[in-house]
Amino acid sequence: MNWLLTNKNKRLTPENSKELEYIKKQVADSPWRQVFHIQPESGLLNDPNGFAFFNGEYHLFYQWYPFGPVHGLKHWYHLTSENLVDWKSHGAALAPDIYEDRHGVYSGSGLAVKEKLYLFYTGNTKLDNGERVPFQCSCAMRTDGTFEEKKVLMEGAPEGYTPHFRDPKVWQAEDGMYYAVIGGQRVDLTGAILLYVSADLETWECKGEVQTSLPSFGYMWECPDYFEIQGNGILMFSPQGIEAEGDSFQNIYQSGYIMGEPLDLASGRLEHGAFREWDHGFDFYAPQTTESPYGRRILIGWMGLPDQSYPTDRFGWAHCLTLPREIVFENGELRQQPVKELKNKRNEAEHQTWNNADELMDGQAYELDIRFDSLPDTPFSLHVREGRQERTTLHYDPRDRKLVLDRSDSGEPLNEEYGTTRAALLSYPLATLRIFVDVSSIEIFANDGECVFTSRIFPKEDSNGIRMQADAGGLVFHAEKWEYK
Ligand code: FRU
Repeated sequence: MNWLLTNKNKRLTPENSKELEYIKKQVADSPWRQVFHIQPESGLLNDPNGFAFFNGEYHLFYQWYPFGPVHGLKHWYHLTSENLVDWKSHGAALAPDIYEDRHGVYSGSGLAVKEKLYLFYTGNTKLDNGERVPFQCSCAMRTDGTFEEKKVLMEGAPEGYTPHFRDPKVWQAEDGMYYAVIGGQRVDLTGAILLYVSADLETWECKGEVQTSLPSFGYMWECPDYFEIQGNGILMFSPQGIEAEGDSFQNIYQSGYIMGEPLDLASGRLEHGAFREWDHGFDFYAPQTTESPYGRRILIGWMGLPDQSYPTDRFGWAHCLTLPREIVFENGELRQQPVKELKNKRNEAEHQTWNNADELMDGQAYELDIRFDSLPDTPFSLHVREGRQERTTLHYDPRDRKLVLDRSDSGEPLNEEYGTTRAALLSYPLATLRIFVDVSSIEIFANDGECVFTSRIFPKEDSNGIRMQADAGGLVFHAEKWEYK
């Protein structure tokens, strides 16, 4: 089927349900279906939305076009979990069914207040002449999972900004007021974030821009989020239009954060350091965070990028979400660590240990934890999902502490015009790796999460080898592997 020719504007209606069932069946038979990542039953998944702890469990939504691997009419798909690892699906929660969101229920956030989970999102609409008109909307979910009527909070973009105005993230500050950051584009086509305040979640006042020292950093900032950890203010967003620079900003679009003093909510001022990318892999975008009941900051991203094609497109589906990560502040830096609940998975998993580079292992969906006790003086490599003619390789060069992810031979190629390797420098010699390999992805957490690489890979089903390759002596490691189900 040529998905580009399929209708992008199909709604979930009783008349369309047969077609959807048919697509779901096809998708279920697709190669590269993941084992322990959130993925769509059909169609396209993109940004995580509405991530919040409410009524005793985590709620997570994602951008979903049900009828094909294209950015069509967006819905919010709903999942819940008690432990961030085992998720229960609840199907489409928000559908584009009012005038103000008729061309898509775009991204946004969730905030639990008393007995309700308030979902804030951008209603996307387009006029006949193609001009966009964004509406910021809300919809409250009750504890029984039913929804109140949608409310329209803002129409259009503020003066001085184009209609690329979207993705509200709402939180409550210590002063008891509610604040929102919304991604935008100035009329001079530079990216910005606007700050809003509200006493009741309904009437919103624009406080102006969040004032950063990045006046001209790309042409659009999508999916902003703001939080504080140990007295540090962290503003994250996904800027578009940043040129590649050395090993940085290699993907089509970026996503990262600026950190500094807490945001001054009265003036909108943010004193901050340099923009840092969250992830050094090939496929990571539009992440969103929430706070757990015990104050952990948890981040989930889209393991994909806009405006790129993926090998599963031809099977009627695209993309997945990343594993949830905890953001911690240590020695002046942020680290990202897979949430501790992932260890629950290990209980059901087959466990192996490994400490000899000449020995081989295999696996298709697993966690591999490596501790390096001694490193050689020269580069060495770890190969995973290795077959006769393919492998995904992580190289490490102890001389400059450079870690390189190479997917040039990973299997079916994708988006090679953006390169086939990604690299990052570690701040101290490689000591640990935690690697999560699924049927079509890899997430690598190096040195206790100081550096992360997230990527899709599309190997053959029987390319399952795991091999350590060191040309010189001196490599001493201990590894444990758990095969996930
Ligand atoms: C980011 C994004 C958001 C938008 C949504 C639409 O990937 O473009 O800015 O709300 O996706 O699906």
